[in-house]
Amino acid sequence: MRDAGELEISRRGIIVGGAATVALPAVAATRTTSPPATAEPSRAPVSMTVNGQHRSLELDTRTTLLDALREHLHLAGTKKGCDHGQCGACTVIVEGRRINSCLTLALMHDGDRITTIEGLGTPDKLHPMQAAFVKHDGYQCGYCTPGQICSAVAVLDEIKAGIPSHVSEDLTGAMRPTNMEMRERMSGNICRCGAYSNIAEAMADVAGEQA
Ligand code: FES
Ligand code: FES
Repeated sequence: MRDAGELEISRRGIIVGGAATVALPAVAATRTTSPPATAEPSRAPVSMTVNGQHRSLELDTRTTLLDALREHLHLAGTKKGCDHGQCGACTVIVEGRRINSCLTLALMHDGDRITTIEGLGTPDKLHPMQAAFVKHDGYQCGYCTPGQICSAVAVLDEIKAGIPSHVSEDLTGAMRPTNMEMRERMSGNICRCGAYSNIAEAMADVAGEQA
């Protein structure tokens, strides 16, 4: 007759052996369904009109619009600040609307018209918003400035089109480019140098000329 110690060992043997029998197929199943470590990233073609020029690329499908512009098209004017949609440094204008290019995949913009800071004006012929930023000292280090300018241009278009913001008192009437409207709409564009009041003055200058 077996003693209690032998019984305990054989019971453990069954449990361990059973667990191993159950676990092995699971491990095998996991191994066969995992992609091989050397798998190539999936790539796809994308075509966009960037600053008036037709551009075609073959990209890793995970490429953001920001990286496509900076790393593949070498348009480094658009800046990467946070890469998390929190600073606005990467703002570009897509089909007339401003977006954070770090938060969107390039493939989602196949066929779209995109304007970056390089497409707004040239050193010899500045866009009125660029000229106003220079006139009113709307920057210090300049890192946030391309995003601020793209955003500011789109903000004045939004106001002209009558699109209300969180601070608009009349949601259906004509919009006015008040200081409060412009500050609210520019609140997603962070400036660590704190050039906010000069940026607001530059925008007011351009809005006044447009009125
Ligand atoms: Fe896109 Fe900051 S880099 S929001
Ligand atoms: Fe330096 Fe805005 S000018 S962060």
